[in-house]
Amino acid sequence: MINNRHDLKDISLADQGRERIEWALTEMPVLSAIHDRFAKERPLEGARISGCLHITTETANLALTLKAGGADLVLCASNPLSTQDDVAAALVQHYQIPTFAIRGEDDSTYYRHIAKALGHRPQLTMDDGADLVSELHKNRSDLLAGIIGGTEETTTGVIRLRAMAADGALKFPVIAVNDALTKHLFDNRYGTGQSTLDGIIRATNILLAGKIFTVAGYGWCGRGIAMRAKGHGAQVIITEVDPLRALEAAMDGFRVMPMLEAAAISDFIITATGDKHVLDQAHFEVIKDGCVIANSGHFNVEINIPALENMAVKKHRPRSNVDAYQLEDGRTIRLLAEGRLVNLAAAEGHPATVMDMSFANQALSVAYLWEQGVDLENSVHPVPSNIDQQVAVMKLAAMGLSIDSLSPEQQAYLSSWQEGT
Ligand code: ADE
Repeated sequence: MINNRHDLKDISLADQGRERIEWALTEMPVLSAIHDRFAKERPLEGARISGCLHITTETANLALTLKAGGADLVLCASNPLSTQDDVAAALVQHYQIPTFAIRGEDDSTYYRHIAKALGHRPQLTMDDGADLVSELHKNRSDLLAGIIGGTEETTTGVIRLRAMAADGALKFPVIAVNDALTKHLFDNRYGTGQSTLDGIIRATNILLAGKIFTVAGYGWCGRGIAMRAKGHGAQVIITEVDPLRALEAAMDGFRVMPMLEAAAISDFIITATGDKHVLDQAHFEVIKDGCVIANSGHFNVEINIPALENMAVKKHRPRSNVDAYQLEDGRTIRLLAEGRLVNLAAAEGHPATVMDMSFANQALSVAYLWEQGVDLENSVHPVPSNIDQQVAVMKLAAMGLSIDSLSPEQQAYLSSWQEGT
């Protein structure tokens, strides 16, 4: 039964959730150090925060860090299929963080949960995909005056927020955590790379070696997926709409071709573009029999599932997270995780090791907003570069790596223009 403190699947999962949250923390040394500093300095004392994030073990550790800093925090899911129900239970039972999230919730429950998080009357928001900010502007504009600022975790959310800002619709400053170098170069590339392959393998248990594996989109996520699929011995094809990225993919050693050609020969097709209907009816008409299709982008719009449903004469679920659609001519298309982000729906999302940096940026950006957000204009702002640098330095140190530093002579050389050959 939904109440003001929580809506979750099963509170008896709380002990298991706590074990897994503690396990993840062992791979999050940067966030741990920030947690300990926040516990001493309490930089978020009294800040009311609503977070619409994937409810995972890593997010739980971010939430505990903010709470240690003095924040009064409420969480809701940022995707209907990404919630780890044991984590939601632990957040409520063991850590007293109100949480509204149930894996498999329908769309109306999803939005009801966002409404609950907004009922907290946040001063700061945290988003993964911009649904909280969007709902706030559309349905709870009464709260806007009390908001100091927000953070956004994903490429998709940042694109949405930039569109809002360009329309003059964005009514508070938002920090684009995604755009920090210590976020997207690692989380989007290595995190999405590993976790997407993990989701595909857990769902299908098919050997990738020797298979033709198409990745739609060669942004940081697409690059990571392609790199890891190649490492498994697949022949990787990239489809793109951006000539520069297509060229880069070609020179990185991948085959590049339009999706209509790729669909006819691929054993796997994974979308990571952030756009809609990248796999559409025209592709389903030529797609290879048995092709596995999945999405790793934020929203479930990249594969035109209604078109697939229309074309199918039969549908069944041979394994969890796999729907087999049989077409009239006998071909089968195998869709993973209902077209939702396969890395979180069929696996556990990015590993803690990489979320450590993403969430260090989140935690420090939230504290920055609480301190200085009132001075920022209502637009999308970068993570301050000193935060980005600090996260890189802390992660290197935690990995036991040291690096060289410039000598005074080298420093002088770099800042002079007189010295040549
Ligand atoms: N986004 C991708 N992976 C994630 C994870 N493990 N936790 C929270 N958000 C994520």
